[in-house]
Amino acid sequence: MKTKFFLVLSLVLTLALAACNPKPTTEEGKKKSETPGATKPTTKQITVGYSQVGAESAWRTANTESIKSEAKKRGVNFKFVDAQQKQENQIKALRSFITQKVDVILLSPVVATGWEPVLRECKAAKIPVICSDRSVDVSDQSLYATFIGADFYEEGRRAGEWLAKKMNGKAMIAELEGSPGADAAIARKRGFADALAKYPEMKILISQTGEFTRAKGKEVMEAFLKAPEGKQINALFAQNDDMGLGAIQAIEAAGLKPGQDITIVSIDGVKGIFEAMVAGKANCTIECQPLIGPLVFNAVEEIVAGKPVQKRIKTHGDLFEPEAAKKAIATRKY
Ligand code: AHR
Repeated sequence: MKTKFFLVLSLVLTLALAACNPKPTTEEGKKKSETPGATKPTTKQITVGYSQVGAESAWRTANTESIKSEAKKRGVNFKFVDAQQKQENQIKALRSFITQKVDVILLSPVVATGWEPVLRECKAAKIPVICSDRSVDVSDQSLYATFIGADFYEEGRRAGEWLAKKMNGKAMIAELEGSPGADAAIARKRGFADALAKYPEMKILISQTGEFTRAKGKEVMEAFLKAPEGKQINALFAQNDDMGLGAIQAIEAAGLKPGQDITIVSIDGVKGIFEAMVAGKANCTIECQPLIGPLVFNAVEEIVAGKPVQKRIKTHGDLFEPEAAKKAIATRKY
């Protein structure tokens, strides 16, 4: 009688434990044990569509690589489309992701506005959209799940503060802006201007887009230096390093010394600007983190698993001057 009672009790306990602690199940419904360090098994392979801005800068190349390699590492069925700087290409890509019934869409928008109609189509198709690196300007915040990326306003503000201190509150500044309409360009410009507002003798003499590329940065800087106010320029704010690197070539071609005759601050932290700083040709960069693949796919997996994700996931960057650049250059990953 006693033995029977203990047999029944142990059977009940075993069943209860199994119910509380189910093993992860694969697509075929087979039980699978967890491998330490491996990504969490899910019920089916996740399909993700990604519309990337393009390949305008070294930063962007590193960003694409980080996202692609993380997708591979996690066994995601990944559909990558390069928008070549065109919003119409991105809208087309999003619609094709809807047709393909992907699980999640990643979007790095070329420009901030004009997204509501296509995002409503994604929402109607129940496909969550993650804004990666750049965000969208929409009145209905439920049109995207989360925005993962840097605080562009803060980057511009830090660049302005740094320059004002370096120039002792007095400078004639040329500004190379990023792609028109991109939130990275809009917010960096605002942050920079706001930082300078308390320094009446820090003047932005001339400002134009260099489209976040090295070639355009060079071309526009050449024009700046030839303009009537060109001779007064003694500082440059380039909204990304690539434009700063192009400007360095233009400054040298004009017979001036970049980093000395013209103090240069830019944003991103790519290896090229580290090399320029070590060579004394640039003065400061505000790091913007492009290696966000792991953060992005953490969010993808959480969303697919039905877990809540933070609406805003901010990345952080350091400020580098030449001394710090010398120490860090050997280990720079991008
Ligand atoms: O959106 C981030 C910006 O876009 C980077 O600063 C720039 O290099 C890129 O093109």
